Parts: sequence; C-alpha cells; structure tokens
Amino acid sequence: MAVVGKNVPHDSARGHVSGESLYVDDIAPARGEVLVDFLWSPHARARIRSADLDAARKVPGVVALLTHRDLHHNLFGPIYKDEILLAVDECTFRGQPIVVIAAENAEAIRKARAAIVIDYEPLEPILTIDQAIAAQSFFPDPRIIRRGDADAALANAEHILEGIFENKGQDHFYLESQAALAFPEEHGALTILSSTQNPTEVQEVIAHLLGLQMNQVVVETKRMGGAFGGKECQATHPAAMAALAAQKTRRPARIAYNKDDDMHATGKRHPFQNRYRVGFNSSGEIVAAQFDLYSDGGAYADLSPAVMGRAMTHVDNAYFIPNVEIRGTVCRTNMPPNTAFRGFGGPQGATTIESVMEEIAAVLKKDALDVRRANCYGIDSRNTTPYGQIVENNTLPRLFKELPERADYKRRLAEVKRFNESSETHLKGISTTAVKFGISFNTKFLNQANALVNVYLDGSVQVSTGATEMGQGVNTKIQQVVADELGIEPERVIVMVTSTEKNNNTSATAASSAADLNGGAAVDACRRIRERMAQVFRTSTAAKGEIVFADGQVWDAADLTKKMTFDDLVGIAYRSRVSLGERGFYATPRISWDWTTGGNPFLYFTMGVACSEVLIDRFTGEMKVLRSDVLMDIGRPINPGVDRGQITGAFIQGMGWLTTEDLQYGAQGELLSHSPTTYKIPNIHDLPEVFNVDWIEHDNPVNLYGSKAVGEPPLLMSISVWCAVKHALSFVSNGEVARLRVPATSEEILMRMSHSRAAVAQGVQR
Ligand code: HPA
Ligand code: MOS
Repeated sequence: MAVVGKNVPHDSARGHVSGESLYVDDIAPARGEVLVDFLWSPHARARIRSADLDAARKVPGVVALLTHRDLHHNLFGPIYKDEILLAVDECTFRGQPIVVIAAENAEAIRKARAAIVIDYEPLEPILTIDQAIAAQSFFPDPRIIRRGDADAALANAEHILEGIFENKGQDHFYLESQAALAFPEEHGALTILSSTQNPTEVQEVIAHLLGLQMNQVVVETKRMGGAFGGKECQATHPAAMAALAAQKTRRPARIAYNKDDDMHATGKRHPFQNRYRVGFNSSGEIVAAQFDLYSDGGAYADLSPAVMGRAMTHVDNAYFIPNVEIRGTVCRTNMPPNTAFRGFGGPQGATTIESVMEEIAAVLKKDALDVRRANCYGIDSRNTTPYGQIVENNTLPRLFKELPERADYKRRLAEVKRFNESSETHLKGISTTAVKFGISFNTKFLNQANALVNVYLDGSVQVSTGATEMGQGVNTKIQQVVADELGIEPERVIVMVTSTEKNNNTSATAASSAADLNGGAAVDACRRIRERMAQVFRTSTAAKGEIVFADGQVWDAADLTKKMTFDDLVGIAYRSRVSLGERGFYATPRISWDWTTGGNPFLYFTMGVACSEVLIDRFTGEMKVLRSDVLMDIGRPINPGVDRGQITGAFIQGMGWLTTEDLQYGAQGELLSHSPTTYKIPNIHDLPEVFNVDWIEHDNPVNLYGSKAVGEPPLLMSISVWCAVKHALSFVSNGEVARLRVPATSEEILMRMSHSRAAVAQGVQR
C-alpha cells in the first residue's frame, strides 16, 4: 500500500476551498498591534536634500516614524551586501522605502504619509539595458562560458545568422501580496510570521539590521498565496520593516502591501537583451554560436548574478553546440531590483535559442522540428553541455519523437500552410519546442536541507523541514514520503508550519528542489527512527528476518506470526526508553561548479517537448492558442495530481510572460501597468482550446523515489506558443527572418505584420 505515486489530496485543498486556510494577514489582530506601511521614493533616482517628519509625527494615531537612523545596520543582500533597507541620502529606484510608518490605523498612515515633507533633487536615472550599456553601468564580474573555437568555426560556417532576442519583465502576481507580522518577545527577541520562501534569510537579515543574534529571531511561515520567486528575497523587506516597528514600539506590528504598491516597489523577472551570432550548415546543424546576454538587474544585485548564471547555462537548452561562447553581463539600472522568478533566467536563455531554431528553419526553408532534432543532445555522443556536464539519462530524443506523433504535427503543419495560403483574415502558426532544465541550486552550498521527525505516543507523526508551502504541494509530497518510510497511512502524518526554531540554516524553497532536498532529509530521519524501532521489535519478538514496516504494521519477513501494529511498537519503544524523534540531513551528491573550469552544477535535468498551434487575426493581431500538447520526463511523480497542476499552471504562467503580460513604464520609469486592469495575466479564456498534458514512464534513479523536480521546468514548455507566433509571422515576412519580442502581445504581433514589408534591408532589425 505505497502512498508515494498516489493522488493524496493537497494538504491545503480543503482549507483553500472553505476559506479555513490562514495567510499572514488573515490572523486576527493582537492586542496593541500597530499597522505598518512605508513612504517610498517617487523618483527612480534622486538626492534627498532634507526630510521633515514633524508634521507627520503630530498626526493623531501615528505611533512611530522610523528611518535608516533607527536601524543598527542598513546593508544586506543575498549575494553582494549592496542593498539598503531604508534610503539614506539618495534614492536609487522608484518604490524604494524611505520612512517606515507605524500607526493605530490605516487612516493615520495615509495622513502621515501625506504630511511627510521630503525635498528631492531628481537625478538622471538609468532606466533601460540600452542606457546601462551606453553608461557602462554593470554589476561586477561579467561571466563567460566557452568551449571550442567559436570565432574560427563561425568564419568557416556555411550560414550565419545574427540577431537580438529581447524580453520584458514579468510581475509575479501572487494573489497574496507581501506581508509580515512581528511580535516583540522577552529580552529583545522577536517572532516574525512572514510570507516568505526563505525564513532563514528573513531571520538572518532581521538579526543583522536590528542588532540581534540570529537565535533571538524566530521566523515562521505557514503558507504563501503564491510566490513564484517573488518571495525568495523580497519578502525580507516587509518583514524587516515590521520587525523594526515591533522593536521600536514594543508592540506587535503588521504589514501587508496593497497590490499597487507591491507591483510598484518589488522587483520582477529580469528583462534580457541577448545578442547572438550563430553559424550552421545547410542541414540546419549549428556548428558555432556566440551569445552575449545582458539583463536588467535593477538598482541592487539581489539574485541577479545567479539568475544570469542560470540563463547562461540554459541558452543551449536541448541543443548541442560544438563551438560556443556565452557571455553574461548584469546591468545596474534605477529600476526596482529584479529578482527570482519561476525559471530563474532559464526561460530567457532557452527562448533565445528556440527563437534561433525558428530563424534557422526560415533561412533554410526547412521544418523547424527537423532543425531542432538535428541539433538535439544525443544519448552517446554530442551530449556534453557548454559547461562540461554530460546530459545523462537523456530522454529528449524520445520526447522529440513521441510528442510530434501524439500531436499529429506533420499533418497539422501542412494544414497550417494550406490555411495561410487561403485565409485573408487569419494566420496560423505551429511550433514544437523543448526544455532541458537543470535541477539544483546553481550555488552549490544551497543544496542542503534538514528535517525533524517526531513520532508521538499514539503513533502519529509530525514532520518539520525548511520547505515552505506556496501552493505547490511540497508538504503533501513530504507527507507521502514519510508515510511510506514508516509504513503508515498519510493521515497519520502532518507536515508542520515552517519555523527557524525547528530547522536551522535552511535554503529558500526555490530552484524547483524543495521536495528533493527536504524530502531527502525527511527520508534520512525516518530511516534512522525505523532502524531503532526495528531493533526494539527484534528484542521483543526474537525476530530473525528482515523487519518490514507497511500498512500500519510491523512484521518479521521470515516469520509472519511475529507481527504488531506500528502504534504498539511505538509504545514498546517508548517504554524501552528508545528515542522516537530524529533530525535528518541531506546534501545533494555529485554536484560541482567553477566558473573557470565548469563542472556538473546539476544533479539531473527535467525535460520535455511541447507543440502549440496559434491563430492570429491579421487585422488586429489578436492571438488564440488552438492547441497545446505537452509531454515531459518528470521521472516517477510522488503525486501525479500535484505534478499535473504544476505543469498546467507553469505553462499558463509562461504563456502570460510570453504573450500578454506587458509592463509599461512612463518616461521617468514609473510603472503604469500596476494593477490587473492594465496588466493582463492569463485567465480561463486564454487556455489552449485543446490542452493535452502528459508524461512518459521513466525512472530518475538519482533522486527521491525516482521523481524529478517539476516546479519551474514546464514554464518553458510555453515557449512553443511564442515560437508558433513567430512561425505564423514567417508566412508574411517577405522572405526575411521574422523577428518578435517578448511579450508577443496583439500590438507587437500587429506591428510585426504591418512592418514586415517595410522592414526589409534594415540589417539586424530588432
Ligand atoms: N534557483 C533559485 N534560487 C537560487 C538559485 C537557483 O538556481 N541559485 C541561487 N539562488
Ligand atoms: Mo524560485 S525562481 O527558484 O524562487
């Protein structure tokens, strides 16, 4: 009666539907609680000449106005310590907190904000990648990955393609905005309830900023209402502001951004501008490529260098490039610091080469699927990535064969061509793209986790890990694994609130790897408890065979008369004074990384191939996805229902980035699209009319129960939709390579169609 592999219901399913699930801001006000909010910079870049808080202090209901002067330290950051919580004498992005306001009610906060007088001297900001390149405004350490001799191979290539791939950012649009609740405790200690993917980072930063030891700060995370990377680093700021208010006022302090402020003040998916030069032969095989990637990191580094690292290690995607040079430069601008977002640079890298595949096919007048197959990583040869890792257990060739068959690709491609010849009102496109997503944090030391497993006197079990639940079902997967390890029903296992008090020095729930890492740690703890319980069983029954734990029973495999319930054995173990609790640990084996020599940064790859067909209105550019087929290798799912939800949701979220979510800024960098009225996330009508999601049966022997990480990789399956648009445009591009930016909104598509004739002979065209 294995539980792993079954559709055990998500541990919040009932609560989410009934409304019983509590998020931070649902928790009832504590006695004496103050509300916290902040005044933010209205300028992308400005000097603060003076700040006058006197009038604001007199507003009835205001409890405290706090500035950088109230902090013990002001400097922090996940990679470089270059970020300040509260502006000092210069604001470096619009939305940057300057004054923290603590008050009795929202009315007082509003009035106080209006009464604060700050004299700004606006300075010239850097708002785009182009401006940053012109000003040479970069974060340190531009990186390079190199193999073979790209220059020489390009010089001899039969065909050369040059271009620029550009994408805009994406708002995380979690339904629960950033929120935190801080409680002052005895002796200056603090307890923080935080909607964070990274309780340890919140703990560490608050301790540092407020002059405490880490052991004086407890951070708890029950759940998040979505996060998508937006709460990997940037949940820290609201939590720190609430903690500062709690420390200074000695009262519980609550902060919850409203949606507009959240969209204004927090960083997003990184915009990229990727220049490429690709050499290929007339069968479409790439012989050499140079990629020069630029991202907009925003005002502080945040995770941008790591995001760039993942973009650089995913620009090959599913394709072997013998001679290759990949450069990555992070631009420093005056935008809010851009941050982790589901895919973490992978989508920006992979979309670049998938776009190149469409372009090679257009140049050679070939089927783009054939071009992709010709370049796909091989099983025994042509299987080494630019950074030196061998693509093991490679199912890409199989997926590239099976998915087009299932999707009836050849026939539909012919139909698309016929349709485009006959229709004067509409245009169709179809494309098949792939994903090969590396699993493991690309920062080696983050690949560790610990778990606490407690077995109680009645045989019920509590598990605590550093994993945070953001809807993705990690608690349910851990619950299933623990149930199987101890041979009990999943109902006997509860995964507890995530707390730095129970699990120390944890990594963010990120990089798709929370179930892998924390599940691995939980298995380690369970196995050691089971070993001790087995010894108790042998002592009390004189069992000689292997001791089996299953179906809530424990027995001797060599003598089935020796059998008792798990609960009874727990009682015997307790009375025998044997420990029924354990801390487990997991550190991902086999990984290595060095920027100069490369290495094996990833334990394995999650893979997939998808085919999408789109219909475009030639007069308005409006686009509809007619059909998408997705086939993935996600190993043996621990919970197939949860994984199906992850694939479906990630695909649609990726579609939003690639087609409809269009961040619009004013001339001074002010975000104009800061609410759902002007920022179009996908809704139910945007779903592909036909949407087939499936995976192959394939074991992943190097990971937890043969499973694979599934959180981020399927987001990249939506690249098939964007490439299908690009394919459609190739029918009206007058023999030129069709260019397309991300997002391919109706406007973008319409412009590409109407400009396609005029654009000929403009050289490298954006
Ligand atoms: N993914 C998410 N977060 C990270 C990573 C990663 O690969 N590396 C460092 N932080
Ligand atoms: Mo995620 S983008 O790894 O928080």
